[in-house]
Amino acid sequence: MASSLAVSAILLFLIAASIADSRPDPLIRLPSDLTEQSSGDDSVGTRWAVLIAGSNGYGNYRHQADICHAYQILKKGGLKDENIIVFMYDDIAYNEENPRRGVIINHPEGGDVYAGVPKDYVGEDVTVNNFFAVLLGNKTALSGGSGKVVDSGPDDQIFIFYSDHGGPGVLGMPTYPYLYADDLVAVLKKKHAAGTYKSMVFYLEACESGSIFEGLLPEDINIYATTASNAEESSWGCYCPGESPSPPPEYYTCLGDLYSVAWMEDSDIHNLHTETLHQQYKLVKDRTSMHNTFSFGSHVMQYGDLNLDVNNVFLYIGSNPANDNSTFIEANSLSSFPRSVNQRDADLVYFWQKYKRSAEGSSEKMNAHKNLVEVMSHRLHVDQSVELIGNLLFGANEGSNILTAVRSSGAPLVDDWVCLKSMVRTFETHCGSLAQYGMKHMRSFANICNAGVSAETMAKVASQACTAVPSNPWSSLHRGFSA
Ligand SMILES: *[C@@H]1O[C@H](CO)[C@@H](O)[C@H](O)[C@H]1NC(C)=O
Ligand SMILES: *[C@@H]1O[C@H](CO)[C@@H](O)[C@H](O)[C@H]1NC(C)=O
Repeated sequence: MASSLAVSAILLFLIAASIADSRPDPLIRLPSDLTEQSSGDDSVGTRWAVLIAGSNGYGNYRHQADICHAYQILKKGGLKDENIIVFMYDDIAYNEENPRRGVIINHPEGGDVYAGVPKDYVGEDVTVNNFFAVLLGNKTALSGGSGKVVDSGPDDQIFIFYSDHGGPGVLGMPTYPYLYADDLVAVLKKKHAAGTYKSMVFYLEACESGSIFEGLLPEDINIYATTASNAEESSWGCYCPGESPSPPPEYYTCLGDLYSVAWMEDSDIHNLHTETLHQQYKLVKDRTSMHNTFSFGSHVMQYGDLNLDVNNVFLYIGSNPANDNSTFIEANSLSSFPRSVNQRDADLVYFWQKYKRSAEGSSEKMNAHKNLVEVMSHRLHVDQSVELIGNLLFGANEGSNILTAVRSSGAPLVDDWVCLKSMVRTFETHCGSLAQYGMKHMRSFANICNAGVSAETMAKVASQACTAVPSNPWSSLHRGFSA
């Protein structure tokens, strides 16, 4: 009421002003007079961006490379550092395994994307809590970091890009706990209720990333999201050793992710004043699915307020003036990927390459062998424990069917997220950390809740399935629960 009165007062003032002074004011236009070029003008608000790499470790090189590359696009697009907030563990550029010290690349022939990237939230400050505080513009809720937050107003646009591992309903973080879909969507709703943005675009790379928004993201809070995969499939790494195109020979880790690279390489070459979100979505979808053949790759999805997809990409991430003369071509001019690597297997590729390449008899070789055995045995332990719990709960015939059942499309993963998180903690108490790989089993815990299993039953069954937490470093709980 008060605000609509204020708006009326301002309108009256503007009308009075324009009668009194008949010179056209370039800043005052009816919405219908806004041309494509002016709709993204700074005069109608500020562009904000939050970039998050949710992993750490050299084997996950690609997620931080994606985030650094995104920063360079935003920077060339005209966004200011004060409006770009970066979350990255920052253990890649100067990692002892990095063959080009101080440099990060996101393409086999690509240049450095690390230079200039603001280090707002690095290391142990890359947390769910800080991400939420930044998005909500709440400085008092921050812990560590640069203190930069999305201090946005009602006319502003916000762009969020997140790249990491994930699982049904969950996204990774280099710290614990992980980020759960219900909490993320609650924060987005809170941001909307605060009236501190005009519209928001969320690009999300992770396994099962569709499950973060499916049945959860409202259509009426001015948020348009696209995800690398649907709710029940992996996303993909690219520029991986042994695949095509391959990174330079001295790299034994993937340089990028398929969906991320697809939207960024598209943004690198196009005049984004003339490319809509919908056009970019179609191009990215095509490239991420091997031209819709799905011989590998994933289903890029869109969620939220799909009416926003008529907006130009420029409105959110600006546009590099060097591309001003590039004309938009509907067909994908960028090469497709004959091969790439399932997101979850990319760390196996890394450990395997490291093992294969170290000198026979060297301590590196022994270490690499140990790492490979540990990561494999952790996977086996988690898979077998979850399967056994399913069999104990539902019987050997039904167990795996119930755990892996996918709800009808449009339904969220689980109705009771508190239950899901408590099932995860119960599992981890008895069986050890799920860790990065174990996020894939989140649907099983969701289905245990959906089936109405009680906390007591779950605890009993988990203690039967796992008599001890394995000594494997991946199983260690010293960094906390993932939920
Ligand atoms: C900001 O965060 C603090 C600490 O978590 C909290 O007490 C406060 O209510 C938050 N402010 C807003 C406006 O949400
Ligand atoms: C775009 O084309 C115009 C007209 O030919 C030219 O003046 C301008 O320099 C070009 N801009 C770029 C970035 O190439």
